[in-house]
Order: sequence, then structure tokens, then C-alpha cells
Amino acid sequence: MSTIYKTIYLDAPSIGAAEKRYLSRAVDTGYVSSAGRFVFDFEEAFARYVGSRNAVATQSGTAALHMALHELKIGRGDEVIVPALTFIASINPVLYVGARPVFADIDSRTWNIDPCRIERLINRRTKAILPVHLYGNPCDMGAIMRIARKHGLAVIEDATESLGATYKGRQTGTFGDFGCFSFNGNKIITTGGGGMVVSRDAGKAGHIKFLVNQAKDKANSLYHPEMGFNYRMTNIEAALGLAQLKKINRFLASKNRINSIYREKLGGIKTIRFQEECDGGRSSNWFTCVSFADGINIARLQKKLMKHNIPTRRIFMPATGFPPYRKYGKGDYSRSRGLYDRGLCLPSSVMNTKDDIYRVTTKLKELIA
Ligand SMILES: Cc1ncc(COP(=O)(O)O)c(C=O)c1O
Repeated sequence: MSTIYKTIYLDAPSIGAAEKRYLSRAVDTGYVSSAGRFVFDFEEAFARYVGSRNAVATQSGTAALHMALHELKIGRGDEVIVPALTFIASINPVLYVGARPVFADIDSRTWNIDPCRIERLINRRTKAILPVHLYGNPCDMGAIMRIARKHGLAVIEDATESLGATYKGRQTGTFGDFGCFSFNGNKIITTGGGGMVVSRDAGKAGHIKFLVNQAKDKANSLYHPEMGFNYRMTNIEAALGLAQLKKINRFLASKNRINSIYREKLGGIKTIRFQEECDGGRSSNWFTCVSFADGINIARLQKKLMKHNIPTRRIFMPATGFPPYRKYGKGDYSRSRGLYDRGLCLPSSVMNTKDDIYRVTTKLKELIA
């Protein structure tokens, strides 16, 4: 007879009574679209939480990144330095504005863009650096900001996976010119689908607020002095976001607890290495990810774990391997590729209990023994 186990969640969010209350309040007001109090309240609460002066809600994290690049007037003929290892949505907005992504390989300890590899890629066409705090792990923002200042470059932080993570006590997303966040279903907090762009520059943030709402003139909403975008967040999404934001400390504590259990139970195994924090970095542990020594077939291991109802996720495949991006990938990305070949994201949902995580570690140890 086979054993029936409780479901183990990979990255499912926790949505409860508070969210339902906020959602029904939004519905009761009749404002289900982008007009309505919740969007402003969410923006204000979010800015306060991350410690930024201004926050603009968007339709997605991708839209937030697109708006940041657009606001910096980055376009045709310009280059943006990006990590070779990230989700494709970090790269696409660079192409949306007509610029060229220039890929830098990662630091094999942190899995983030290696600051030592950035400077050699800078030339007169370089306009910005776009670091990604991968799986919630902060990039070395001290080193990145020093390089950016030295060369007069803008910095757009892809903080879509790192809400709540800090570098030297400051929240990720608040170091560069813009910080971009995502509230996709599997993120630290969710609005179903949505994003946020933060900036210390009120003028630039105000301009993005205007652009995401079809660039409607303040005095005459039927007049459009610029090309705009329909990138606004709805009141319904913002209601969900506000309820979720109130629980963020609980979610982060749960992510940290999960990470501690994995480290406690798997940390002593020679063939397993964890993604590590840089000096001064404190990960949100959005996902706990590990890499295995050569000789372990990741796809096979993933299948075996799934047979025991343990879902996992492969590490991102470097974008330089995909047809639309191949022509931009001329360097050595062996560290990024190596992590795709040998890495795995372990179940990290806040819906899991301690026992669930213990079950994952026991089974994993058994399978790699
Ligand atoms: C690294 C990274 N960048 C950008 C995004 C885009 O965010 P969204 O899905 O909200 O557009 C995501 C999330 O999906 C992501 O993981």
C-alpha cells in the first residue's frame, strides 16, 4: 500500500481571511479598476516598508522594469549590463526599449552578477547596470554602486524576487535609480499579478505614474502629450497587496525558518552547496536553492522527488542559450550554465510546515546517498 503524504508546496502563497476582507471592501466601493483608494494606499505603505520616498504600482514586475528603462531614456544604440543567470523577464524590457543586453557571468558563491566582471564590459554605449537579487539574495550593492558612480551609469535593481532582503541594513531596490518589484502569484507577497517601481526621485516617479495610465493630461484626460502605456495596477490587486504587505514579517520569518532547516539538515553534506550571501547581504530566502556536485543528474533527481510528491524547480537556463538572445551572448557564462546543470530550487512555500521540510531533507538525503 502506498503512503499518502500531505501536499508539499513549491512556492504557493498564503491567502487568508484578511485578504478576503480587503478584496470585498474594494468590490463594495465599486472601484474594481485602477481608480480607487487601495492603489494609493498600497503605494504609500510599500514605499514606507522598503524605505523609499516614492512607489508607483504597475501591472507587473516586467512593466516596472520597462518603465524604469524608458524613464532613463535608454534606447537604440545603448547597452545595459545584465547577469547571465536570471529569469527572462529581467532581459526582455532591455529589448523592449531597443537597447542591447550585455551579459556578465555570475559569482558562483552568491549566484548574482559578479561585480569583478562588470567593469570590463563598460564602453561608451553602456548606460546602465541591471543587477538581479536572485532568489531573494542581495547583490553586492556596495561594489555595483561604486562602479556605476565611477562610470556615470544608471542602476536599475531587479528586486522582483527580493522584497524584504537587505544589504548593509537597507532594503534591496533602494540603492539604484530605480528598484523594481513583482507581486506575481509565487512572490513574497502577491497581488495575483502586479509590480512596483520605487525611486528616490519624485519627478521621475511622478512621470512614471503618468505614463502607466496612458499618459493622460492632468487638466484634460482626453489629451495625451506623450506616448503612454496601460501598465496600471487595479484597485482589486492593490487591495490584495495591502493585506499581504501587512503579513510580510510573518512570511519572511517563515522563509528564514525553512532556509535554516535546509541548512541544518543538508549543510554537512559534501556534495551539496547552498547559494551564499555576500558580505552585508541578508537574503529574504524567497527560494532556498542548492547546487550538487558533478555526477548528479538533476532532471532525474527532480523526477524521483516528484514521485514522493516533492516538487522542485530547475535553476534558470541562461538567456544566452535562447534564440532571440544568442547574438548578445559572446562571453564565458560557464558559471551560470553550471548552476543550471547542477542546481535545484527546493520547496520554499510559506504553506509548508517544519515537518514538510524535514520530509524533503530526509528524502533528498536518501536519493543522493
Ligand atoms: C528575476 C525576475 N525578473 C522579473 C520578473 C518579472 O516579474 P512579473 O512576473 O511580475 O512580470 C520576475 C518574476 O516573474 C523575476 O523572477
